[in-house]
Amino acid sequence: MASPIDILFQPFGLKNLKLRNRFVMSPMTRNFSPGGIPGENVAAYYRRRAAADVGLIITEGIGVDHPSALGAGSMGERDVPVLHGDAVAAWAKVTAGVHAQGGAIIPQLWHMGGIRRSGTGPFPQYPSMRPSGIWGPTEKAILPPDYLHEVSPPTTPMSENDIADIIAAYARSAANAQAADFDGVAIHAAHGYLIDSFFWPGTNLRDDAWGGDITRRVRFGVEVVKAVRAAVGPNFPVILRFSQWKIQDYDARNAQTPDELASLLGPLSEGGVDLFDASTRKFTTPAFAGSDMGLAGWAKKLTGKPSMAVGGIGLDKDLQTSFVEETRMVNNLDVVAARMARGEFDLAGMGRALIMDPEWVLKARRSESFQPFRLQAYGALD
Ligand SMILES: Cc1cc2nc3c(=O)[nH]c(=O)nc-3n(C[C@H](O)[C@H](O)[C@H](O)COP(=O)(O)O)c2cc1C
Repeated sequence: MASPIDILFQPFGLKNLKLRNRFVMSPMTRNFSPGGIPGENVAAYYRRRAAADVGLIITEGIGVDHPSALGAGSMGERDVPVLHGDAVAAWAKVTAGVHAQGGAIIPQLWHMGGIRRSGTGPFPQYPSMRPSGIWGPTEKAILPPDYLHEVSPPTTPMSENDIADIIAAYARSAANAQAADFDGVAIHAAHGYLIDSFFWPGTNLRDDAWGGDITRRVRFGVEVVKAVRAAVGPNFPVILRFSQWKIQDYDARNAQTPDELASLLGPLSEGGVDLFDASTRKFTTPAFAGSDMGLAGWAKKLTGKPSMAVGGIGLDKDLQTSFVEETRMVNNLDVVAARMARGEFDLAGMGRALIMDPEWVLKARRSESFQPFRLQAYGALD
């Protein structure tokens, strides 16, 4: 019997990528890869979700091949994986496990930029990379005072060489994604990390070719996308995650109007992005006044490319609220399906619900009850 949520179980194609359904595991940092190398526990973690019908897994953030990429960020990150050297063969075991379960898997390429605390990570002597040497305004950040104290001193703004080296690092890591048999590549350009820190005037005060108006602020991201595209060829899907909110300020906005969003996403789309992952706290929040459409809907409308919505699917509270208020696992797929049916977005990203219950998709289809939400699971994911 046809059900309104059937649309979520329809296959989806994007260049070489063929997905069995529309459910995507959102990227979530795990801190379980000592030396940057994912082990059998990482493979088992992703395999378990693929075995339970998750269509596409986007991995935890993976450091690009540059010594400044990783360190302890605002959440004290450690043991974050990389995708070069011995890690390539280790990831090949992870991708094989997911493929054997009929799933697809794409790495999220990450450079932490100025969010990284200096003196931390695999290359602590390396300075953190910031477009203008500033972390950004601290007044609105909801973060531990010791972290803010450590990241507040300005650093040397990125040089032309730093910029060129890091763009090349993205390209190398993207090529390695193909070598490890991933099904595409996802670029983290959200949340105030390096690429987003070029987009946002709160962290980019440059007045050269990499800063100023929105066209110049988007240029670093566009050059990363073009370099990645050149490295992987025309048929390998490239996903880009963007957000309005930043770790520095949850209320920050890169785009105040749809026109500004078009100026940001248009060049990224032309540079080679195949699908936009619009990172929001709640996927139903209207992105702009005058319409109930969310950010993923606007990305699709303005670029003509497919998009993915995320934020609160399977849960009754958003990420930040879940730290302070009781949170429940819920089945809200009727709302997701209705918006997908009207063409707002193509894929449904799920974060926390898939940490709490690897079988969430299977259970939702069978109308079974879910594992309970447990805040402590963020730190001990299996
Ligand atoms: C423990 C944890 C780690 C996360 N790590 C990342 C990350 O590495 N990269 C990223 O882009 N987003 C990260 N996120 C954000 C999620 O991908 C997702 O966008 C967010 O949790 C909202 O979706 P949800 O409401 O379904 O959980 C993380 C979220 C959580 C809970």
